[in-house]
Amino acid sequence: MNNQRNVNKILKSRSTLEGAGVRLERVFGYHEVPLFDPFLLLDHFGSDNPDDYLAGFPWHPHRGIETITYMLEGDVEHEDSLGNKGVITNGDVQWMTAGSGIIHQEMPHRSEGLMQGFQLWANLPAKNKMMHPRYRDIKKEEIPEFAVNEKVQVKIISGNVNGTIGPVQDIVTDPEYIDVTIKPDGTFKHPVKEGHTVFAYIFDGAGFFDNKQKEITSKGSVVLYADGDFVEIYTKDKPVRFLLISGKPIGEPVAWNGPIVMNTENELRIAFQEYRNKTFIKHK
Ligand code: FE2
Repeated sequence: MNNQRNVNKILKSRSTLEGAGVRLERVFGYHEVPLFDPFLLLDHFGSDNPDDYLAGFPWHPHRGIETITYMLEGDVEHEDSLGNKGVITNGDVQWMTAGSGIIHQEMPHRSEGLMQGFQLWANLPAKNKMMHPRYRDIKKEEIPEFAVNEKVQVKIISGNVNGTIGPVQDIVTDPEYIDVTIKPDGTFKHPVKEGHTVFAYIFDGAGFFDNKQKEITSKGSVVLYADGDFVEIYTKDKPVRFLLISGKPIGEPVAWNGPIVMNTENELRIAFQEYRNKTFIKHK
């Protein structure tokens, strides 16, 4: 670790309506391509008003991507064309490879208090776009959570912190996904792969994300790093909580329409035609 990554860009999330009318914060998405390559989108849903989320995400297709959903609070019921059905709840992760095609629905339950979580979309390279779909539910208990030092607590969804490896391991773009909390006057130094895209999404508190930037607060800020082989994040008088995410860039053309992301417009046209003709599902 001798080449610290500096903050290259700071972006702000924006409120949007998705699905059948779910109010959420889009951290980045369609308009940011290819900035976060291999990642396409990060949504942060969080509300204590059921009217903001109960409409949910009724039956819809996906092709050409992988999604990772991480719930902090609340329940989301899901069901898909592979025959999976279940509820993701507080602290659970659902990982899905849409590959050649999956049709699913994601319906939040009414909760007392806050319903909060994240959905990340990782792109698939051309050679994997039409792979077999797959799906995994990961319970909170399977996600390693520990103190790195007396000020820093991590939950490893994917990747490696001091030799402990997270349960999401077969995503094609080799992502690392860590939920990090730093108490006041703490420092988290973490190696990352050179050449990989690395970003932090700050969702609580405030911290310093390199040695040059002023303090960055949680109001929907996402920090995209320049290249290097480690990041160092520290706090002064406030704690901070953020997702630290990295992955291997794909570097291919992106053709994206709603829930389907391919390489060419023609592949998109075929996908929507197949969906209309009910020939979309290639692997059950
Ligand atoms: Fe979906």
